[in-house]
Amino acid sequence: METVKFQITGLSILGASVTVSDIATDTLGLTLMTKILVINTSQNTETSKSRALVNHYISALREKGVDFEIKTRDVGVTPPPHLDGPTIGAFFTMPADRSDEQKGLIALSDELVAELRDADMILIGSAMQNFGITSGLKAWFDHVARVGETFRYTENGPEGLLGGRKVVVLAASGGDYTQGAAAALNHQTPHLKTLFGFLGIDDVETVVAPGTAVNDDGVEAAKTQIDDIAATAASGDTKAA
Ligand SMILES: Cc1cc2nc3c(=O)[nH]c(=O)nc-3n(C[C@H](O)[C@H](O)[C@H](O)COP(=O)(O)O)c2cc1C
Repeated sequence: METVKFQITGLSILGASVTVSDIATDTLGLTLMTKILVINTSQNTETSKSRALVNHYISALREKGVDFEIKTRDVGVTPPPHLDGPTIGAFFTMPADRSDEQKGLIALSDELVAELRDADMILIGSAMQNFGITSGLKAWFDHVARVGETFRYTENGPEGLLGGRKVVVLAASGGDYTQGAAAALNHQTPHLKTLFGFLGIDDVETVVAPGTAVNDDGVEAAKTQIDDIAATAASGDTKAA
């Protein structure tokens, strides 16, 4: 079976505006290939609810026959290091002026930025910790929010450079912050929206699984919601996905 790869712009799949996408043609016809960057954040690899939701999402897409390729970055098991002074100094040094040592300091950041740029869609399993995102996910953002790379300063303020991508956040929390006074304590999903918005990605869809400390009702409800999203994505109704 012959496979020809070429590039196309302006497509939309899974609700993501695909700026650059590979298309494989074979004797059976065309196959669209969406690149999904999966980011897992929980340190718990055994009974993590956010990881379970990510797996459910991927299975649901597969079952619906959606064609995609996945790259996984696990910041729960292998968190990027905290930024230190020399690394920040290397970020703010013009590329042509960076020493070999500075290039080494930002090598991981360069890799993370490249992964992000390469993705049409970013799927995050987000565990709430201390009312916000995990420290590993925060460190990941510290490495990918790069002036001149993923955002820039303009006369009108900062401008994100990663528009055209879609983010899906599957968020698990021990408590329930979906209503009432507790809602003000949720610094997880609002923070994620702010951070991706800063990078130019405003298409952020959130599915929450609240109350995991009490029972699995929130997780089951989230899985049902995920099934609906996958069905919509597979039907090609990208506005709702
Ligand atoms: C270090 C730590 C901090 C946590 N902080 C909170 C919190 O502030 N609020 C909350 O509702 N649950 C909190 N939890 C519970 C988690 O949000 C809950 O276990 C959730 O399911 C985490 O996702 P995971 O199952 O994918 O690890 C915390 C758990 C851990 C391990």
